[in-house]
Amino acid sequence: MILLDGKQTSAKIKEEIATQVSVMKQHNKRAPHLAAVLVGTNGASMTYVGAKVKACQLVGFESTLIELPEETSEDELLNQIQQLNNNPEIDGFIVQLPLPKHIDEQNVLMAVDPDKDVDGFHPMNVGRLTLDLPTFISATPFGIMELLERYEIPTSGKHVVVIGRSHIVGRPMSILMSQKRPAGNATVTIAHSRTTNLAALTKEADIVIAALGIPEFLTADMVKKDAVVIDVGITRVPDDSKKRGYRIAGDVDFESVSRKASHITPVPGGVGPMTIAMLLKNTLLACERKRP
Ligand code: GUN
Repeated sequence: MILLDGKQTSAKIKEEIATQVSVMKQHNKRAPHLAAVLVGTNGASMTYVGAKVKACQLVGFESTLIELPEETSEDELLNQIQQLNNNPEIDGFIVQLPLPKHIDEQNVLMAVDPDKDVDGFHPMNVGRLTLDLPTFISATPFGIMELLERYEIPTSGKHVVVIGRSHIVGRPMSILMSQKRPAGNATVTIAHSRTTNLAALTKEADIVIAALGIPEFLTADMVKKDAVVIDVGITRVPDDSKKRGYRIAGDVDFESVSRKASHITPVPGGVGPMTIAMLLKNTLLACERKRP
């Protein structure tokens, strides 16, 4: 079994980005600048946004963190987004999800300038993705594609089962892997909560991508021998033996599946770190696209 090491791979990508940034600085160009908007105090969101800002510092990017209170109105948030859209110093920005319930997520995502939408969530960028046009690919699916490519996992003609149809992971993943592109050309099945006899599908799959958000859902009896298994889950499961009171669990029962799979991503240290590296890559791209 080969571990698809997202921690190591993302460190390499960050090194590559840092080198490009230092070349930009040598040519008296300013560094890429990412902004992140965080509304409220969701614990997991605060951790993720903190990690994104830290990663910016590591590669030499500028970063701005905008923290807004839970009670922020939709109009106030839309106003903040307009300011970021109009600020020439900001190359790209993200609005961390989930948002408080009183704010309409789609209204917010549609307000982001598609040229600064480094999360790739704007309908324009999602549409461009489905049409094979240059776009911003959302960071988690982009990170999985990069892992498959860098580990030279054969995908052409292979059967991929994606479990989960979320806008952030499952849906774009299914589109990317069916496209004519590196780590693409696969035959893709997208499974979800209404799929009947899921195990029969996953048992046939050469590659399984588990992105449903149920801890340790995928067990060894559901995968065929030598399958490639990608675990997108990151759920906080209460655990009194841990100082912080929880452990991070993936959607895959690593203990049993790792004994059967040819390649598998660990949690933590698999897809998660890749997501941050690809957000940086998108920000670099946004910065380069702005320059003639
Ligand atoms: N919440 C969970 N994943 C993401 C992500 O990739 N981007 C943003 N903005 N919010 C998220």
